[in-house]
Amino acid sequence: KKILLLNGPNLNLLGTREPHIYGHETLSDIETRAVSQASSLGAELSFFQSNHEGALVDRIHQARIDGVEAIVINPAAFTHYSVALRDALTGVSIPFVEIHISNVHAREEWRHKSFLSDKAAGVICGLGTFGYKAAIEWCVEHLKAKEN
Ligand code: DQA
Repeated sequence: KKILLLNGPNLNLLGTREPHIYGHETLSDIETRAVSQASSLGAELSFFQSNHEGALVDRIHQARIDGVEAIVINPAAFTHYSVALRDALTGVSIPFVEIHISNVHAREEWRHKSFLSDKAAGVICGLGTFGYKAAIEWCVEHLKAKEN
């Protein structure tokens, strides 16, 4: 079972970026934990972060070629305006979970809108970096259930 973890713009700054909103964990803490969590559940997880919309689109296309079966994505600011990411995710028809560290609904009005949510298998927000854990666990369960 292959899972891809994607993180969008500015998430490379986690740990130092507005820690009152995003916490103190770094992206590499999250990625390292995700890899070991997936492997302990019998899945294989790869990860990618980019500040560039096109690079994320390319990585999503590559996911289909690589046989990725589920994507966990924190699209960051692209959530709120990227038609290209939406089209890439629906284009490869790989189920995905949208995750946000902060509760976007408790923030600025324009963060309430997502171009991805209605196409996502599920959306997690406001649970901090625990959201990544929950999303990965769901993906593994979902892929196992599909197998049977
Ligand atoms: C975010 C929320 C977005 O609104 C913001 O642009 C981000 C991070 C989150 O994880 O809470 O960069 O996706």
